[in-house]
Amino acid sequence: MRILYVVAEAAPFIKVGGLADVAYGLPRALRAMGHDIRVILPRHRAIHGRAWGLRPLGPSFEVPVGLGGETRRVEVEISEATGVPTYFIWDEFYFGRDQVYGYPDDPQRFIFFCRAVLAFLRQMGEPPEILHGNDWHTGFLFLWLATAGRRDRFYRPIATVFTIHNLSYQGITGDALLAFGGLGEHVDRLEVEPPGHINWLARGIAHADAINTVSPRYAQEILTPEFGFGLEPLLQRRADRLVGILNGLDPEAWNPRTDPALAAPFDAETLERRAENKRAAQQAFGLPVKPEVPLFAFIGRLIEQKGVDLLLRAAEALFARGIQVVVLGEGMPEYTAAFAEWPARFPGQAGVRLAFDECLARLLYGGADVFLMPSKFEPCGLGQMIAMRYGALPLVRAVGGLADTVQDIGSGEGTGFVFAAFTEAAFLEAVDRALALYADRAAWQAAQCRAMARDFSWAAAARAYAELYRQARAWHNP
Ligand code: GLC
Repeated sequence: MRILYVVAEAAPFIKVGGLADVAYGLPRALRAMGHDIRVILPRHRAIHGRAWGLRPLGPSFEVPVGLGGETRRVEVEISEATGVPTYFIWDEFYFGRDQVYGYPDDPQRFIFFCRAVLAFLRQMGEPPEILHGNDWHTGFLFLWLATAGRRDRFYRPIATVFTIHNLSYQGITGDALLAFGGLGEHVDRLEVEPPGHINWLARGIAHADAINTVSPRYAQEILTPEFGFGLEPLLQRRADRLVGILNGLDPEAWNPRTDPALAAPFDAETLERRAENKRAAQQAFGLPVKPEVPLFAFIGRLIEQKGVDLLLRAAEALFARGIQVVVLGEGMPEYTAAFAEWPARFPGQAGVRLAFDECLARLLYGGADVFLMPSKFEPCGLGQMIAMRYGALPLVRAVGGLADTVQDIGSGEGTGFVFAAFTEAAFLEAVDRALALYADRAAWQAAQCRAMARDFSWAAAARAYAELYRQARAWHNP
C-alpha cells in the first residue's frame, strides 16, 4: 500500500515526546513489510539539515492561505537517513521557530502545514491510498478531505486513518480558522464542540475512516468520562471504527548490550555489570555511591499526566524508606520548582536534573533499580518498555499502555509493580512490595531477566496497522 504518514515531530530529526519515536519506528516496520510509506512533517528550525542529509526536493510551490486567493511559497526537503523517505515542509514564518509547539498561533501553523501537505500531494501527482495523521495537529486534513476533498477527483479516493496519542491536547480554536483553512462552506458543529469553536482533535476522530489509540486499554478507557476529556460522546459514537494498537520499541535504538551512553553495557547474562551504571548514575546526580541502597528513577516530562503530583505528595514517606530517588526531565514550572527543592530537603537521597538529557536517561535506565511511572493516564508510554529492556523494574499505575505492558510481580511471572488507585497509600504499597522483592536478590534478578526478555516489536504493531489500513480502505470505498 502507498501510505503518507503525517506528523508534527519524528525521531531522529526532532523529538519532544513519544510521538517522535512512534513516527520513527512504525514507518520503518511498515517499510520492512514491503509497504510504500513516507513520512511528512514541518521543517522545524531545530532540525539539523546537514546531519540528517536533508536536500531540496523539486521546485517550491504555492500553498493557499485563507479564502481570498492569498498564497505562500513553500519548499520541500527530503531525507533518506532513516530508510523511510521523509519530507519536510519549510516556511520561514510558520516553522522557523525554536520550539515545535507552544506558540499562540499553533493552530494556524498546523493548519498551514496540513494545507501544504495537500498541495504537496497534488504537486507529486499521485495521491497515497492511505493518509495516516497523528494527533490534533493533523485534524484539519480529515475535515478537509471529508468536505472539500470529497468533490475533488484527485483527493476523493484517499482513505484516512487517525491515531490518537494523547486525548488531552485537543487544539480548540474559534471557527474563524475554517476560513483560514480555505473552508468557506458551512461546517456542521460536532456534539462536543462549543458553539463557534472547532476542536481539531475531534475533527480527526469525527471524519477519519478508521481511528486508533496507542494501546488497547486506552482505547477502552477513553470511552468513559474519567479518561475521555469530554470527547467520550463522540468516541462512543465512533467506537465501531476505533481500535487500540500497542506501540513497539525499537530493539536497536534501545539495546543495553550496545548502548554507548552506558558506563558498562550488559545483557541478561551479565546483569552484575549494571552495578557500574548505578554507580555512574549516583555520581552523576551527586549522590553517595551506595550499591546496596535501592535507586528509584523518574524520567519524563514533568506534567500532570505523568502523576508527578503523586510523587511530590508522597515524598516524605518515600524518602523515609531510606531509598535514593532521582528525577530527570523538564516540564511545568509548578512541578520543576517543587522538585528543585528535593536535594536540599532530602540530602544524599534525592537527585534532580531538570533537563531533557537522553544520555543521562539511558544511563539511568541501565543503572536504576526501579523505574517510576505513576501516570494519571497513559495512552501507551515508552519509558516502562525501555526500563524493562534495561533491567530496571517498572513501578506503574494500572492505566492505558502501562496496564497493557507491565504485569505485576504478584502473579509470579510479572516484570514490575502495578498499583490501581491514584493515592499515596496505593503508590507506597507498591513501593514496599518493590523493596521486599529487592531484598531477595535471586527473585529480583529473575524478575529482571523476565523483564529483559519481553519483546515489544514494531513488527507486530505494523501488522495491526496494515490490517487497519485495509479496513479503512474498505470503509472508504464501500
Ligand atoms: C503520547 C502519550 C504516550 C505515548 C506517546 C506515543 O506522548 O502521552 O503515552 O506513548 O504519545 O504514542
